[in-house]
Amino acid sequence: MTRYSTDTARYSSVAIAFHWTIAALVIVNLVIGIGHEGIPALRKLMGAHKAIGITVLALTAARMAWRLTHRPPPLPAGTPQWQRGTAHLTHWALYALMVLMPLTGWAMVSAPDATRPLNWFGLFDVPLLPLSGGAADAGHSAHGVLGWLMLALVVLHVAAALYHHLIQRDHVLARMAPVLRH
Ligand code: HEM
Ligand code: HEM
Repeated sequence: MTRYSTDTARYSSVAIAFHWTIAALVIVNLVIGIGHEGIPALRKLMGAHKAIGITVLALTAARMAWRLTHRPPPLPAGTPQWQRGTAHLTHWALYALMVLMPLTGWAMVSAPDATRPLNWFGLFDVPLLPLSGGAADAGHSAHGVLGWLMLALVVLHVAAALYHHLIQRDHVLARMAPVLRH
């Protein structure tokens, strides 16, 4: 009975919707952020980058509230302890970065001498944070470093998902996929 439930349990549709919406927005923002200096077409998307980032912050707050009140399904029986530990650590590091990337970006554009409003897709202005120039600069530096850390963790996370699906052939990817069945 236990084996049956750990081999078929899935994330709830709410958790799945949060996961893939935020994943898509984060990937778009990593591409724009990393590419904007070298690729002029991406430079034009920096306004969207900022609005997407603020959206990620709001969605992540709602997602974390959901996650803290809903237990995720158990991992397949027999998953080694080191894999459980690594998955746990990676997931919480990703949650931390889903909060820290938008916050450091928001801090960066909130320098006291900022002249540009932080606009959300042409609909309204998001207030700037009341920060000193030093704090805005620290946000800028952190945003660059944490961006590369996030890229590395996302690559590790996707590699782990594909390893489970293609090599271990278990249901770990299927339980987070809207359509895939194991
Ligand atoms: C999911 C959220 C976000 C992600 C994953 C993200 C990612 C990135 C990355 C990887 C870079 C390039 C960093 C570098 O190479 O130095 C970048 C640059 C930048 N980001 Fe974000 N960002 C996010 C949210 C935000 C927000 C909310 C804002 C502002 C409100 C923002 C403003 C900027 C700006 C202005 C740059 C250019 C910095 C420069 O040219 O030195 N970002 N972002
Ligand atoms: C920027 C992109 C992504 C972010 C920030 C992200 C973040 C996360 C987080 C925080 C969790 C933990 C969920 C929880 O238990 O609370 C998770 C789970 C998961 N993600 Fe992602 N993810 C991303 C992209 C992807 C992609 C592209 C794939 C597939 C190729 C994927 C596959 C999975 C799977 C299978 C799980 C469930 C793992 C388990 O059951 O232990 N993710 N993701």
